Amino acid sequence: MSLLIRNGRIVTAVDDYRADLFIEDEVVSLIGQSLDVEAERIIDAEGKLVIPGGVDPHTHMDMPFGGTNSADDFESGTRAAAFGGTTTIIDFAMQQKGRSTLEGLETWHAKAAGKASIDYGFHMIVTDMADERLWEMRRLADEGVTSYKMFMAYPDVLYVDDGTLFRAMRKAGDDGTLVCMHAENGIVIDEIVKLALAEGKTSPKYHALTRPTRMEAEGVHRAIAIAEVADAPVYIVHLSCADALEQVVLARDRGAWVYAETCPQYLFLDSSHYDHEDFEGAKYVMTPPLRERWNQDHLWRGLSFGDLHSIATDHCPFCFHDQKALGKDNFSKIPNGAPGVENRMSLVYNGGVAAGRLSLNKFVELTSTAPAKLFGLFPRKGTVAVGSDADLVIFDPERREVISAGNPHTHHMRVDYSAYEGFEVQGVCETVISRGRILVEDKAWLGRAGVGNYLKRGLFSGLS
Ligand code: URP
Ligand code: ZN
Ligand code: ZN
Repeated sequence: MSLLIRNGRIVTAVDDYRADLFIEDEVVSLIGQSLDVEAERIIDAEGKLVIPGGVDPHTHMDMPFGGTNSADDFESGTRAAAFGGTTTIIDFAMQQKGRSTLEGLETWHAKAAGKASIDYGFHMIVTDMADERLWEMRRLADEGVTSYKMFMAYPDVLYVDDGTLFRAMRKAGDDGTLVCMHAENGIVIDEIVKLALAEGKTSPKYHALTRPTRMEAEGVHRAIAIAEVADAPVYIVHLSCADALEQVVLARDRGAWVYAETCPQYLFLDSSHYDHEDFEGAKYVMTPPLRERWNQDHLWRGLSFGDLHSIATDHCPFCFHDQKALGKDNFSKIPNGAPGVENRMSLVYNGGVAAGRLSLNKFVELTSTAPAKLFGLFPRKGTVAVGSDADLVIFDPERREVISAGNPHTHHMRVDYSAYEGFEVQGVCETVISRGRILVEDKAWLGRAGVGNYLKRGLFSGLS
């Protein structure tokens, strides 16, 4: 289908101008003033922004965790992402300990195929990486999996030791790929958890109280130090607090090759959510946990000063009633994670641009361009340009809506609560387009499961 978008304000990470935009054969084929072209469909975007579709580099669809699976699969999760203006996700495939990473990749391809309605790529969660297996990292890169996630947290589950980290980082540095770090000292945290449980402290708030910010900062410091010695870049995922950010700033000031992401939950929610009665705090059991509110100013500063480079969701939803309840008597058994893939763009526009903390260009950079660059998808994704995939959002910067699990306009995730219940946001994704196909228009779903393509990503080339 050919599509002409007239009169929009096109905003990328660097541009801001009014023009018409013509889409043909899945890509943007012309941008100009008063374009004189025939199109099967014309949309008038007067008064609206035309921005690149969001790129969310951190989601967990259908992921086994804590004895259950995250509640969104690739069908419900990508559909919800599209409603929220995200047209690309990079999800985490997982290696089973002792098994091949390539087998893990096959499993995740099977989960996504026929289900995804937007384009998707995979990182690989590496749970062991013996010398004999190192060759698999290069094979993964050939398959378009050019980044890996490794965990300093969750001993006995996903945790890898420092030697494994170093080995994998050296190989990633040689191959031109990127290690993403869950940076928290899980060994010490597990000791603190044991002490709390022995004292009968079992409610959700102890999830946060047993994961001090110093243990995140220590993990960030150690991950960066190991990456420096391995001569490899490192990307810190879901950075939550000022303590950890300080380590990134110190490292970047000395020229270390480090990038970091934060997430809406750390920008908009805080540890007071764990004080809710009746186990409600379990809705916010995620790792790292929500922090004291004052941390948020530091994170916003990190985003605008360029020490934090992207905003991802870490979307990992578990239903309150039948999944979070697994930890009713023991907070350490509550599956970790929260929903959010649908809410990122509006939340960040509202709290960033409308609140005067971020420029429009920075908003686009953090939610689309930088993740596309860091993870080998730019300029196919992450910008509005001739030749780029026509992944676009027509965004109404004035319209407001209230996020709620009960609001059919804001909640398409397959989970029985919203982490942002009752938040009023200014800025709504009105029309969402993926490779020239309209997926969402006027809150109606026009997309189709299975048309999302797997994205073979390129090697790491930094942010420039
Ligand atoms: O609580 C979280 N973040 N769950 C998802 C797994 C992870 O650590 O990213
Ligand atoms: Zn993590
Ligand atoms: Zn995650």
